[in-house]
Amino acid sequence: AKILVLHGPNLNLLGAREPQIYGRETLADINRQLAEQAQAAGHELAWCQSNAEHELVGRVHQGRDDQTAMILINAGAFTHTSIALRDALAAVAIPFIEVHLSNVFAREPFRHHSYLSDIAVGVICGFGGDSYRLALEAAIQRLRASAP
Ligand code: DQA
Repeated sequence: AKILVLHGPNLNLLGAREPQIYGRETLADINRQLAEQAQAAGHELAWCQSNAEHELVGRVHQGRDDQTAMILINAGAFTHTSIALRDALAAVAIPFIEVHLSNVFAREPFRHHSYLSDIAVGVICGFGGDSYRLALEAAIQRLRASAP
């Protein structure tokens, strides 16, 4: 099945950006590992990073046309602001897992609210780059459980 990984604003700077919070792994490192992990389980992984809300919304819409079965999304700061991204995910009705590298609940209060969590399959946060790998593992399990 097709799995889409969406990375929101500033995640292109991973590795260099506040490494004490987000770690030293780059986005390329993370994407490469996720692609291998997906392939090993017989799935196809696509990824997209954008700093622009409308591009992320557009990529979510595209997921409906290309039969994306599951989305992993780290919406970055849009997590805490974007009703548009929430509405897009609800509109396409593709199951998604919300991912964060940092433990957002151990940080500033404005990071404690997410516009996505209540409509997500689940949320994984606080494990650095492993948050994505754990989320992909959960996605693979879920796809297996729902396979015809
Ligand atoms: C983040 C947490 C957000 O609060 C922040 O705006 C980010 C990254 C994370 O992965 O920990 O850009 O989503």
